[in-house]
Parts: sequence; C-alpha cells; structure tokens
Amino acid sequence: MNLILLGPPGAGKGTQAKILEQRFGLVQVSTGDMLRAEVKSGSAIGLEAKAIMERGALVPDSIITAMIASRVKQPDAAKGFILDGFPRTAPQAAALDEMLRENGMVLDHVIELKVDDAALVERISGRFTCGKCGEGYHDHFKQPKVAGVCDVCGGTEFTRRADDKAETVGARLAAYHSQTAPLLPYYAAQGKLRSVDGMADMSDVTIALTRILSPTA
Ligand code: AP5
Repeated sequence: MNLILLGPPGAGKGTQAKILEQRFGLVQVSTGDMLRAEVKSGSAIGLEAKAIMERGALVPDSIITAMIASRVKQPDAAKGFILDGFPRTAPQAAALDEMLRENGMVLDHVIELKVDDAALVERISGRFTCGKCGEGYHDHFKQPKVAGVCDVCGGTEFTRRADDKAETVGARLAAYHSQTAPLLPYYAAQGKLRSVDGMADMSDVTIALTRILSPTA
C-alpha cells in the first residue's frame, strides 16, 4: 500500500506517518527529514536547501524529485510507503505519477489532513524533538511524561527546528496555499482523495486514518 499524507505545515503528517508506519508495516518517506539530513551532513544539496528552508520557501522540484526517485527504489520501500511532505507542487505530482508508472507501483490513497491556519501556528511554535532519537513533542499537546526526559530513549537534549519561528511559519503556510493545496483537486479527479479532520485529538486522527486504510479494522 502506497499513500500520500497531504496537509499544511504542522497538520500532523509526521506524527501520524510514524504511527501508520508501525501499524501497517510501511515506510515513512519524509522529504523534510531527508532535506534536514542533507543540511546536517553539509552536502551540496544541503547547502542549497538550508537558506531556502529557513525562509519557508520550497526547495526546487528537480532536487526533490531526484531524491524521491532514488528513495522509492530502495528495498524497504517495496513493502509500501507513506509520502510525508511530497508532492508539494504540480510538477512534483506529475513526476510522482511518472515514477510510479516506471516502477510498476500504484498510489492507493491520498489523505488530506485539514487543520485551521491559527491552530497550525500554535502547533508549530510549540513543537520540539528529542535530539537523540527524534521523538516529537509539543509544549501543550504532547509533553514528555517526565519533564525534560524523552519517553522513548531517556534522552535529555531537545531541539527546535530552525524554520519553526513565527516569521517563517507565515511563509510556509503561504507556500502551502499557493503551491500545494492546488494538488487537492488533482487527486480528487483521480478518485484517490480522502479528507480527515486534523483538528481532532491525535488518537482520533489515527482512528480516522486507520478506517480509511483498513476499512474492516
Ligand atoms: P517538512 O519537514 O515537510 O515540514 P512541513 O510540511 O512544514 O510539515 P511539518 O513537519 O512542520 O508538520 P507536520 O504536518 O509533519 O506536523 P507534525 O506531525 O510535526 O518541510 C520543511 C521544509 O522543507 C519546507 O518548508 C520546504 O522548504 C522543504 N521541503 C520539504 N519537502 C519539500 C518538497 N516536497 N518540495 C519542496 N520543498 C520541500 O505536528 C506538528 C506539531 O503538532 C507537533 O508538535 C505535534 O505533536 C502536534 N500535533 C500533531 N497532531 C496534533 C493534533 N491532532 N492535535 C494537537 N497537536 C498535534
């Protein structure tokens, strides 16, 4: 099973992708995580992407589609993947269709997580991550059980993303509305689009997604 989680920054794509990955034995393919790894490694792609990401704009389609084309051919993607943060533009969606065709793969679902802009700003500005294992938390919605200690690995160092500043979030939301939201009718026309209320509690969002992916569950 291959699916896209589509939604604005902070909609919960990464949170839900990690849960669905475990539940359905799929692999999460996050272009944001891939780009952040490139930035961290200091690669040529990372150097080009860093400034673009920090101002909340989109990285060029050519870089992103090349990254995804090589990622979906890796052996672990054969069990099925969850695209998180891709595609984000019409050319990326067209490139994905072509990639799937070339590799004999099928896109089963495109699921939109719908969240109000005001809630997104609150979610993004409160987000932090364990520096050791990458587990995600939030100042209000998901705090570690013991303050300052990661529930998963016991790590005590936490990080906040460079592009999660209030001034950048506006640019990211604008990029979503102008360049990514137009993909919704594209996938609706393919009969693949479903929408889930991303304003609900995290566990209720997971239930709604699970019902779509496994209607008998
Ligand atoms: P990327 O890393 O993809 O960021 P994004 O799309 O902006 O999405 P986020 O990771 O911010 O949010 P999310 O939807 O995963 O939410 P999360 O689960 O963390 O992209 C970053 C940058 O890379 C882009 O701006 C661009 O520059 C570049 N890029 C990436 N892909 C690209 C592409 N294809 N083309 C071009 N450029 C690209 O949740 C957010 C917070 O809310 C968390 O704290 C979470 O705990 C909390 N939360 C989640 N669900 C709920 C809920 N139901 N209720 C309350 N809180 C919740």
